[in-house]
Amino acid sequence: MSRDQDLHRFIDALDKAIFQRLTPGSAEHDLARKIFDALKIPGEPGQQVDQEPLPAHQYLHKALETARSGPADLAAVADAFEALAPRLNWYRRKGSESAGPVFAEGHANTIIIGTEGLERRSDLQIGVSLLAPHIQYVDHHHPPPEVYLVLSPGAWRQEQGPWHEPGLGGIVYNTPDIVHAMKSGDHPLFAVWCLDWACCIERR
Ligand SMILES: [Fe+2]
Repeated sequence: MSRDQDLHRFIDALDKAIFQRLTPGSAEHDLARKIFDALKIPGEPGQQVDQEPLPAHQYLHKALETARSGPADLAAVADAFEALAPRLNWYRRKGSESAGPVFAEGHANTIIIGTEGLERRSDLQIGVSLLAPHIQYVDHHHPPPEVYLVLSPGAWRQEQGPWHEPGLGGIVYNTPDIVHAMKSGDHPLFAVWCLDWACCIERR
């Protein structure tokens, strides 16, 4: 199985940007190492499905511009993502209607690599969340640990802890099943997340 050039470029840029910001020996470094080692073997190519564009999608351009205003390695992630964007399947979080129309209209997620991704595999997931300004993503949790690469302003919270702003290029690490959320301020929030499902496939 081979990987197309655009996807290869995105993974390569993400790999560089994440490891530039992680401390060897840290739990988040070990997690990212496991995910990026697994990515050396490509999965199956996925299919694009017909879909209506989501309202939050209008903020993608601005979010990418903000990411490009940062260091060159973040700009490379933004450029590589933009090349992939037209081929991605965007979706609202399942059950998001129950959080009200503001949230439902104000967010968009896409899985780049994963069971419904551009590359299909069940051992890991790499995706992106985009929030319109002034949107709080619902509290959520999942069995796999997770590393976010933050590509915009915005705040993150774990459990009932204080909100903190990782900043452009910040890393957020979530331990398995920890409750977490994020919220945007005046700017769209844009972040890449990487989850290690290999640890807990039987729990999917
Ligand atoms: Fe998450």
